[in-house]
Amino acid sequence: MSGSTVTTTLRATRTALACTAAGAVAATVLGLPAASAAPEGGADRSKAPASRTLGELGDRAGVRIGTAVDMSALASDPTYREKAAAEFSSVTPENVMKWEAVEPTRGTYDWAPADELVAFARANHQLVRGHTLVWHSQLPAWLTTGDFTAAQLRDILHRHITDEVTHFKGKIWQWDVVNEAFNDDGTMRDSIWLQKLGPGYIADAFRWAHEADPKAKLYINDYNVEGVNAKSTALHDLVVELRKQHVPIDGFGVQGHLDVQYPAPHDIADNLARFDALGLETAITEADVRITLPADATEIEAQAQAYSVLLQGCLLTRHCTDFTVWGFTDKYSWVPGVFKGQGYANLLTDDYRTKPATNTVRQDLMLAARRH
Ligand code: XIL
Repeated sequence: MSGSTVTTTLRATRTALACTAAGAVAATVLGLPAASAAPEGGADRSKAPASRTLGELGDRAGVRIGTAVDMSALASDPTYREKAAAEFSSVTPENVMKWEAVEPTRGTYDWAPADELVAFARANHQLVRGHTLVWHSQLPAWLTTGDFTAAQLRDILHRHITDEVTHFKGKIWQWDVVNEAFNDDGTMRDSIWLQKLGPGYIADAFRWAHEADPKAKLYINDYNVEGVNAKSTALHDLVVELRKQHVPIDGFGVQGHLDVQYPAPHDIADNLARFDALGLETAITEADVRITLPADATEIEAQAQAYSVLLQGCLLTRHCTDFTVWGFTDKYSWVPGVFKGQGYANLLTDDYRTKPATNTVRQDLMLAARRH
């Protein structure tokens, strides 16, 4: 699809979504302040689009615009804090709700950093994506080295999900209940959970989370599932099966960690559409687009296109609720630490300057908003 076809389709398809913005509805349900959904022609008509924040542009396009938040940056860097507060309409804790962070010692919880993010979000009228309850990574050592029986591990997982979801009950918009459970070939990841509990751990996790907070939207989340491929098809098949069993699953999260050296997932809207057709919400949950350093002009342009492919995929999907970036400045990006020699992955540079990608994202949101 050419860029102009995408844009035309986008404008023709996004009917009245802002009026029923999933985020605003969810905010009301949670008793949280809904992001302002001032219609065009409202009091702030005079506000030039260029001066609107990403969150405001998202409101008009019917999607929340979120960011992962690094709690140490939030505490130490006033510019970071100011932008995290002002630009976004939802936030995701980058690390502080993960198991190793909340229960470093068995039976002793440390909710303080995550509570701090929830308070920050509330103060800034933002929704919170909870991330993440069941994952193979960032588990506490007591758990991975504990040599537990299957029955013990099942109890431990049940208790973890119940305690964490209960602690944040009423404060979380969407939970990433299960994260990265599949391999790229569509088989299930050979995690401690699959090994010891079998594939039924996924259904159990969703049931336990729902019992603890019936109003939170429950997501399965993964990477390399932007387009139609073996992995996203396996997730789709799983959702069909879970729905048959009346498992309370609400959403499909597409992480969106891209790399400009691979083709952008131009079929993302087709992929999201088949989850939408199952009655699921969808979301882009961790967008960033890395580049092998030093980034040249062609790569920087490709990055802008890749962000746009992700965002337009969401905007073209009826129940795509949010577009979350995995951090908004290269200053604190996880990319250089994990992908050797790569970086420049976020919407802003490490000194908070904009990039072509920043403008593309803003333009896509403005075009989508013109429908309303
Ligand atoms: C990453 C964080 O960004 C890093 O700070 C941390 O060291 C490792 O985890 N997929 C996910 C996220 O679901 O939780 C990961 O976050 C990035 C990949």
